[in-house]
Amino acid sequence: MINVTKSDLPDLEKYVEYLKKIWSSRQLTNDGEFVQLLKGKLEEYLSVENLVLVSNGTVALQLALKVLQLRGDVITTPFTFSATTNVILWEGLTPVFADIDPDTFNIDPKEVEKKITRKTSAILATHVYGNPCDVEELQKIATEYKLKLIYDAAHAFGVEYKNESVLNYGDISTLSFHATKVFNTIEGGAIVVKDEELFGKLKLLRNHGIKSEEDVVLPGTNAKMNEFQAVMGLCNLENIDEKIRLRKSLYERYRERLRGTKGVKFQKIIASKHNYIYMPVCFENIETRDGIYSELIKNGIKPRKYFFPLTVNFSYFKKRGMDLIEKYRLQKAADIANRVLCLPLYSDLEIAAVDSIASIIKAK
Ligand SMILES: Cc1ncc(COP(=O)(O)O)c(C=O)c1O
Repeated sequence: MINVTKSDLPDLEKYVEYLKKIWSSRQLTNDGEFVQLLKGKLEEYLSVENLVLVSNGTVALQLALKVLQLRGDVITTPFTFSATTNVILWEGLTPVFADIDPDTFNIDPKEVEKKITRKTSAILATHVYGNPCDVEELQKIATEYKLKLIYDAAHAFGVEYKNESVLNYGDISTLSFHATKVFNTIEGGAIVVKDEELFGKLKLLRNHGIKSEEDVVLPGTNAKMNEFQAVMGLCNLENIDEKIRLRKSLYERYRERLRGTKGVKFQKIIASKHNYIYMPVCFENIETRDGIYSELIKNGIKPRKYFFPLTVNFSYFKKRGMDLIEKYRLQKAADIANRVLCLPLYSDLEIAAVDSIASIIKAK
């Protein structure tokens, strides 16, 4: 079976070398040597300041919403992973959905502006499949209406927009280092924040709000990355450019092979530097997409209908009897979700596999 993804693993001996050091220090967590080392290396690699390492990308989002002390409504995209919508509800806020741009697949700033009311406190936008949102327009809107701007950059490791890290836009960006991502620490994530005061608060919030042995200054949580995750990150970071280069060649091969196939549409990439985390392809309609999905499965290939369904179609919303697609006018997002399929893409996927996947699609 060729799966949609395969986690990158470093050289085992290298990992074991680090494990030996952990065995001798016996410091397994609590902001140990390797978490601190990884933080510095990531700030340098990603060209960002103020990065906080956490245990996963979902808790990174939760802490971002928490530290900004938001109230009321958060305008967001329905074309994203469940966590983006879940965290808004988890923090006791109300998600208000805005439609996407059908070319970039990212939230459309014009649609965001239409949804702003007195209750709106923030915009939570996802850089879908690593492709930067329209960061300039979103910033204009956030500034004009005095809204906080948060980016779910779970997919956007190493991505640049106009030759600058996409993580430097907005008030806060969050990353996921989950095993399936371009850069992984098994489970893990990070928060990048501009404001120094928020940076200080985030460091406290991820560690129970503990300021000193005898004082807890904020009602925090436990979102710490541990040393085992950090050393996986240190190992994986060493080869990251090579892994992205390999992904790029496979991504380009897919596009070359599928270009011109009836009904096939690709995501319009606006990144100046992309990370090729996924290989999304849109087909003519839901029937074609589902037919290709079944045909690939029959041939031992497991693509993923990602993101399908839209988060507004999750059963927890449906149970409340709401048709949120109609309510929020999300027709473009619904259309892309019905047509999209993420094809297998990982750094050591064979080029011959790309060719055979493309041939199966073309023959359908
Ligand atoms: C867009 C998006 N947001 C958030 C997350 C959550 O990250 P994690 O799995 O590290 O909790 C993911 C993870 O897959 C994601 O794809």
